[in-house]
Amino acid sequence: MEKKQYTVTAALPYANGPLHLGHVAGVYLPADIFVRFLRHKKHDVAFICGSDEHGAAITLRAKKEGISPQEIVDKYHGILANAFKDFDIQFDIFHRTTAETHKTTAQDFFKQLDKNGAFTQQKTEQYYDEENNQFLADRYITGECPKCGYAEAYGDQCEKCGSALSPTDLINPRSTLSGNAPVLKETSHWFLPMERHEDWLRAWIKNGELNGVKQHDPKKWRNQVIGQCLSWIDGGLHPRAMTRDLDWGIPVPVEGADGKVLYVWLDAPIGYISATKDWAKSAGKDWKDYWTGDRKLIHFIGKDNIVFHAVIFPILLKEHGEFILPDNVPASEFLNLEGDKFSTSRNWAVWLHEYLERHPDKVDELKYTLTSIAPESKDSEFTWLDFQSRVNNELADVLGNFVNRALVLNNKYYEGVVPALGELAAEDQKVINALKEIPSKVEELLYNYKIREAQSEVMGLARIGNRYLAETEPWKVVKTDPKRVETILHIALQITANLAILFDPFIPATAKKMRSFLNMSEFDWSQTGSIELLPTGTMTNKPTILFQKIDEEFVESEKAILMASKAENKVEEEIEVVAAPQKEDVVFEDFLKMDIRVGKILSAKKIKKADKLLELLVDTGLDQRTIVSGIAEQFDVDEIIGKKVSVLMNLPPRKLRGVTSNGMILMAEDAKGNLNFIAPGEEMEVGAEIR
Ligand code: 2FM
Ligand code: ZN
Repeated sequence: MEKKQYTVTAALPYANGPLHLGHVAGVYLPADIFVRFLRHKKHDVAFICGSDEHGAAITLRAKKEGISPQEIVDKYHGILANAFKDFDIQFDIFHRTTAETHKTTAQDFFKQLDKNGAFTQQKTEQYYDEENNQFLADRYITGECPKCGYAEAYGDQCEKCGSALSPTDLINPRSTLSGNAPVLKETSHWFLPMERHEDWLRAWIKNGELNGVKQHDPKKWRNQVIGQCLSWIDGGLHPRAMTRDLDWGIPVPVEGADGKVLYVWLDAPIGYISATKDWAKSAGKDWKDYWTGDRKLIHFIGKDNIVFHAVIFPILLKEHGEFILPDNVPASEFLNLEGDKFSTSRNWAVWLHEYLERHPDKVDELKYTLTSIAPESKDSEFTWLDFQSRVNNELADVLGNFVNRALVLNNKYYEGVVPALGELAAEDQKVINALKEIPSKVEELLYNYKIREAQSEVMGLARIGNRYLAETEPWKVVKTDPKRVETILHIALQITANLAILFDPFIPATAKKMRSFLNMSEFDWSQTGSIELLPTGTMTNKPTILFQKIDEEFVESEKAILMASKAENKVEEEIEVVAAPQKEDVVFEDFLKMDIRVGKILSAKKIKKADKLLELLVDTGLDQRTIVSGIAEQFDVDEIIGKKVSVLMNLPPRKLRGVTSNGMILMAEDAKGNLNFIAPGEEMEVGAEIR
């Protein structure tokens, strides 16, 4: 018998950017389906999420956008909250880690651990950026991951292999602020001596036991979660700093910690508790009930968060002493997009809020597709072509077609009234038996976090329904044996009613529509599997089409949007990347030595056998002189005659292809190789000095 009470959390997304389909498929959608299912099974559930608003992910974004960290989190919290609402993800609360309740909760938690002797305080040498006067931890420092070789690992975490790191683990570390190699500087921090916890963690993860008492069923944990955790523990855990020298975050609430804040990965998971507090208060519940006692705590996360939820947070919870440990940490693998990894920096992503703006009427189509390809046990891939095929071949042709046929035939033959069940033929008995089995299979899969398979099992029932109609051919039989058709349609409508309940966690808007066709104002999951959901004589309504097919144009347009945003970003990125570093300082006196004046091009001609060079005659105010310039490929002779330009006068004469050049025309050149004159306004007099 499953425990009746659950606290389900979904990873708090950083409020530093919008959500893409990878986040949705891996974390938020499976969590939402699981919770909807639990509610149908009458479990008491709190479904908790919120935005993660501290840490370097936020401050670096603020720097990039040129606004304050507070403005960043306000902006993205809103975007995230709206996207979740529009996608109908039904959190009980979508909280924020900048909320006051969170500040006190996290500080109290820290104080409790400090009191319990869970930390050690140590002086250490930490990396420091001398140019920016800042200690470098977490995303302020990158380098090569010592575990997998990924070149862009952060100071606390490698997002590629999921390892938890310390800045000093990185190979060739660089400051992300200046790009410089950091120096070491002394500071003091509170550390969590994780090595103290290896033994109980190993037993707890491997066997589900804590102090010899069974806590969870490790068979329900995903292999990759157990595998990763055990390999870290077996590799040896080390002390990990839980505080940071930063000015954005929750102040460390003990003496001697001026200027220090809590490490974001200490602060964020405590956010689940603060969120529960604020939700419980508004719902008239006691938050403690959701973090203590006979209750399952389930964390839905992506694989890069495993160590924080299955190793570090359990240590913190256990050291605190009052709270339950997670019962399961269903972590997903990664979703790829059209043959490449989702990448925020390369803008290779389908952003949820943008999809919803373009297709507000296609929420369930996306939910269904993402669940069908959910990366539960290995990486998987989203493509627009696959989206089209799932919508057209599965949602429209299987589910939509079956529901429509059953209802349309019933309208045609019985004016919409559910006919009576007559004598059963062997083919009827076969589908009735199959139907009976399905709910328990779906439940078993969902209780084991196999959400993708569970959805496929429900779609299997729609296939059974379709096949049943194709085989029994009521449209033919009606001519010879109308009584028999009553039984066939009775069964087909009962299958439809079952689908209208079983699909509810996965595609809730569609399931609701189906129930409205059937006038099912009330429904009960525990009744599924039976052919008595719709009493004989129930009046049904005229159906509308459940799913519009997706045409080629839709696919092409979505692909084009993706390619365009990537191309746009590429240009920006290239410019950013190739912007040359600033040269060494020059003394002012050296600068003054350069004689730069406004000149005017009087004539221009090509130089033989030199594709790039033009021979210019330039009026400098002092004289008319010949200057050779490498601009022949960019400018026609005619378009530059009469142009005012900047001339560096006092370069020693130089012979180029037999022509002596007496100075240089100054040009600007961008990352793409575009050239243009440094042109003083046409009103400037020839000979005017430039300085
Ligand atoms: O990886 C992330 O996006 C983190 N913001 C997840 C935090 S989960 C939790 F601990 F709050
Ligand atoms: Zn790595």
